[in-house]
Amino acid sequence: MADRESVLKPVSIGLLGLGTVGGGTVRVLTRNAGEITRRAGRAIQIVAASARDLERPRICDTDGIRLTTDSRSIVTDPAVDIVVELIGGLDPARALVFEALENGKHVVTANKMLIALHGNEIFAKAREKGLMVAFEAAVAGGIPIIKAIREGLAGNKVEWLAGIINGTCNFILTEMWEKGRDFADVLAEAQGLGYAEADPTFDVEGIDAAHKLTILASIAFGIPLQFDKVYVEGISGITALDVAYAEALGYRIKLLGIARRSLEGIELRVHPTLIPERRLIANVNGVMNAIVVKGDAVGPTLYYGAGAGAEPTASSVVADIVDVVRTLTSDPENRVPHLAFQPGAIADLPILPISEVETAYYLRLSAEDRPGVLADVTRILANHGISIEAIIQKEPLNGESRLPIILLTHKVRERELNDAVAQIEALATISGPVKRIRMETLG
Ligand code: HSE
Repeated sequence: MADRESVLKPVSIGLLGLGTVGGGTVRVLTRNAGEITRRAGRAIQIVAASARDLERPRICDTDGIRLTTDSRSIVTDPAVDIVVELIGGLDPARALVFEALENGKHVVTANKMLIALHGNEIFAKAREKGLMVAFEAAVAGGIPIIKAIREGLAGNKVEWLAGIINGTCNFILTEMWEKGRDFADVLAEAQGLGYAEADPTFDVEGIDAAHKLTILASIAFGIPLQFDKVYVEGISGITALDVAYAEALGYRIKLLGIARRSLEGIELRVHPTLIPERRLIANVNGVMNAIVVKGDAVGPTLYYGAGAGAEPTASSVVADIVDVVRTLTSDPENRVPHLAFQPGAIADLPILPISEVETAYYLRLSAEDRPGVLADVTRILANHGISIEAIIQKEPLNGESRLPIILLTHKVRERELNDAVAQIEALATISGPVKRIRMETLG
């Protein structure tokens, strides 16, 4: 008697995009076809793929795949069951995804910007049509973080999560820390490594991390995707000096995406952050990604791996394809919900403005070297109820008469700190703006 796998017809994939991730996906699906079929219960075949330029050299073998420059011909192809969108960006990816759903095709995408900005409408359309939209590869490349939060931690109330979710920034900060190099110098090298976005300001100004944080927060807390409410600050203002001072105090500087549930609402923020060097996540270096998720039942959990690259990202894309194939026969109402929580149970919790967020701070001031300067500074902090955790005073830098003072504060509400810093900056003995970097113990 024929077994079930041999009687079900293969599932047909249409790929949009044959670049790094598209090529990696073809390679992984081909190389591991036997294992993947054993897991999915059906054979999976790529029937068609679109690319902007068909003459470009590829990292994969495309024999047997219909190649075209016409992406619409894929989303309208009656032979295609699942459309895999690996073009990136909003245009034309957004229109193609909607057209694929309109034509009754399930969608797998690695497009973080598309999901962060338009996911709410995309999932509504998918629900209306009884289709799946899977997006594991959109956050932290090969790390199965979406599945971990949505399914593995489903018994928990998530309290907070904090992640290194942009490999380019982590590479830059690692080089600055290990070799004392300057930001601009390392950025050029990071672009050459092929991890950076087409527009590298998306990486260094924190926008790419904010797209990913938007998605993580939504599935962690059951809230709508709200990219426009994320506080975003990048790493372009971080100097090698700050990295070295932080190290002297026992901290590393990382670009973190942080989502935290507080009594007043949800904190959503991306910014450079001092983390105690004893934390595992502080030791995640180079282009690697890692996310700590704190659940009330499980405690802190850490997920680490490659956040970009052809095959790591393909690993997530293929896992999504297998998930879609496995659930093809299940009733749409009983599938895992797109945003982890049942659509009717998504809660509109308030997102806190950054002025209401409480964090500890690293402050660096440039001060005149004379009696009373430090006393003036600490009095201002005390008047605002800001308590100091550590203070160091360094020798003046070469040729300068002013000396750097570095202060670490305990937790303070940001609006209080803003007032205190404005008063410190107004002191005649302090020059230039006070450099400030938020600090998290992640305890
Ligand atoms: N530019 C991104 C990064 C690629 O550096 O992490 C993966 O999303």
